[in-house]
Amino acid sequence: MWFCNRMIFLQILCCLLFDALCSQAFSHYSFVIINVMHSYMILLHLQVKEAPYTRLCSTKNILTVNGEFPGPTIRARKGDTIYVNVYNKGKYNISIHWHGVKQPRYPWSDGPSYITQCPIKPGGKFKQKLILSMELGTLWWHAHSDWSRATVHGAIIIYPKDGDTYPFHKPDVEVPIILGEWWKKDVMKVYNEFLKTGGTPKDSDAITINGQPGDLYPCSLSETLKLPVEQGKTYLLRFVNAAMNIILFFSIAKHDLTVLGMDGSYTKPLTRDYIAISPGQTMDCLLHTNQNPGHYYMAARAYSRAVNVSFDNTTRIDHPIHLHGYSFYAVGYGSGNFDIDKDPLKYNLFDPPMLNTVYVPIIGWATIRFRANNPGVWFLHCHLERHLSWGMETVFIVKNGKGPEAHMLPPPPDMPPC
Ligand SMILES: *[C@@H]1O[C@H](CO)[C@@H](O)[C@H](O)[C@H]1NC(C)=O
Ligand SMILES: *[C@@H]1O[C@H](CO)[C@@H](O)[C@H](O)[C@H]1NC(C)=O
Ligand SMILES: *[C@@H]1O[C@H](CO)[C@@H](O)[C@H](O)[C@H]1NC(C)=O
Repeated sequence: MWFCNRMIFLQILCCLLFDALCSQAFSHYSFVIINVMHSYMILLHLQVKEAPYTRLCSTKNILTVNGEFPGPTIRARKGDTIYVNVYNKGKYNISIHWHGVKQPRYPWSDGPSYITQCPIKPGGKFKQKLILSMELGTLWWHAHSDWSRATVHGAIIIYPKDGDTYPFHKPDVEVPIILGEWWKKDVMKVYNEFLKTGGTPKDSDAITINGQPGDLYPCSLSETLKLPVEQGKTYLLRFVNAAMNIILFFSIAKHDLTVLGMDGSYTKPLTRDYIAISPGQTMDCLLHTNQNPGHYYMAARAYSRAVNVSFDNTTRIDHPIHLHGYSFYAVGYGSGNFDIDKDPLKYNLFDPPMLNTVYVPIIGWATIRFRANNPGVWFLHCHLERHLSWGMETVFIVKNGKGPEAHMLPPPPDMPPC
């Protein structure tokens, strides 16, 4: 393989890289880290399997990765290559998507079932390869088959390369904050009923932060997320909205959040007393603990439900549209019909954010701009799961360009068969 003859040295220790994580890493997955000129190769093992979880006073089996909910955080550095052995020990077909990883010239590991691969059948295994290139900051991984992503998801954290720094004051502590939804009912049943009736799916019973409902929900007080912080420090909160169907507002009482990155790219800093985050989006935010010692609430609130989801007929809320295989510049938004003569004059071609998920406003439009330099079949879809189930999806087929460097790499030998 390509790395063998260019190998500088080999380490089979993760402690050098991620000391805080080390003990955790060994219990969850075996790490093999091979350093090639400041890029690393990492090998992980993820087992998709059922495990019993108790929330809101009742227990059910949920699909997890390695028995964890939310699933394990994957940590790497810019430019690393990660091999992930995905084992399906559950009873459903499954596939895993690495949300925001562009996978240059290698669509084979992107994940959506029946788009870029057949699902991994129960008892099956697929070795997926994540090729990190420009990504930096927080991304995430999730199942991309039926509604299993409700519980099969986790964060991907990408640090600067060895010797590189953040373009902001280094935070003292970093914390992944994964927002989700919990149904007391089996999620597959919710999904199947929703498909059968053709109506709107049953609302979730709770919004979760790192897998836990807030303290005001029944039977949740003792387990709800409590984040001990020290006064006068800087915390990097790495947000993932892993909720299925709801756009969320998040805020911390009496504190501001400064957004520094979105979707695995740095952005112009923006300080607010709350953030709005849609399913599929990730955000890196700094929190300065500059208030008096005390207890402060963190709160996530549904935005789309507040405008009455049961009345949603697909035109009443913003659509977070996600593109696989690319990041793009979001250069313009507007309401009403797109006017090809007037609207482009208002594009932001100066400092647009680089994203992989863009809001398309209610009864409106958005313009994205990207260079079609990644050959493959790439899914484009609304990240509100009920809209995806209804068919709000299409693909970009990007053909090979001129020369071998613009060609897709060959597929791996163990692609799951149909
Ligand atoms: C949503 O709106 C409909 C129609 O106005 C109403 O019947 C229903 O009760 C509302 N649902 C909620 C949860 O507010
Ligand atoms: C969807 O909602 C809009 C706005 O309330 C309404 O004008 C339209 O008739 C609805 N469409 C359907 C198919 O219900
Ligand atoms: C699981 O995947 C296989 C291969 O694509 C397919 O033949 C089978 O119908 C799928 N099963 C379900 C329950 O979707």
